[in-house]
Amino acid sequence: MVGCPAVEIKIMSLQEFNNDQLPQHIAIIMDGNGRWAQQQGKNRLRGHEAGAKAVRNTVEAAARLGVRHLTLYAFSTENWNRPKTEVSTLMSLLVRNLRRELRRMTKNNIRLSAIGSLHKLPKKVYEELEEVIEKTKSNTGTNLTLALSYGAREEIKQAVIDIGKKVKNNIINVESIDQTIINEHLYTQHLPDVDLLIRTSGEVRISNFLLWQIAYAELYFTDVMWPEFDEHELHKAIKSYIKRERRFGKTSEQLT
Ligand code: IPE
Ligand code: IPE
Ligand code: MG
Repeated sequence: MVGCPAVEIKIMSLQEFNNDQLPQHIAIIMDGNGRWAQQQGKNRLRGHEAGAKAVRNTVEAAARLGVRHLTLYAFSTENWNRPKTEVSTLMSLLVRNLRRELRRMTKNNIRLSAIGSLHKLPKKVYEELEEVIEKTKSNTGTNLTLALSYGAREEIKQAVIDIGKKVKNNIINVESIDQTIINEHLYTQHLPDVDLLIRTSGEVRISNFLLWQIAYAELYFTDVMWPEFDEHELHKAIKSYIKRERRFGKTSEQLT
């Protein structure tokens, strides 16, 4: 079907990756919006607007490939310390984009969830988020999770408090605490571990993202700034992932 980009991309994807090679859970630290804008002599805030387009392209590319879980780091607990105008622009953009994307998410069978200290979000953002989560909850395609006001240390602290309360109230025995119980008390209790973690913009750090869940993730760092990330870049990251041998502590020989 020459002249129909969506179909061409689909055919290419199917040839390139087969389903059991695909990472089940991809997480992305979407970094570099501000620098991308500044490099072009623009205000940082323009970078966030451009970043929203990259979110749409990446989510839809992942959905086309059949990626089960995609988790995007959109705003960290530490990002609250940015200048007030930047924080409020980010929050307004969130509301606008959630509203704008609902129809496309429905069309593409994408289900939205969110993780983080969501109660800290402005009421407007929280309500919009709730609405899109509710309206997409029956979708069966890619499960898109937005990490908003998210910090892994906060998440782990909260899990420790919740487990501690259950021990105190004799709901859980201290001796029975294992990794499964810890998993069940994290925001990500409904998600499998991360298989592939991508960070854009050339920074090589984790910045308080999913510390527990990336224990055995494959890490992929690219110099591409987030607003320039697209389907092609996602495919590059997945190709790199597929070439790797995940040993989980075993030897190569044990795996064959
Ligand atoms: C990522 O881009 C978006 C958020 C953290 C909200 P940045 O805003 O961190 O962009 P840089 O890293 O300053 O270029
Ligand atoms: C990490 O990016 C958070 C998000 C992408 C939402 P930052 O830009 O906040 O990270 P640092 O401060 O450079 O580590
Ligand atoms: Mg940054």
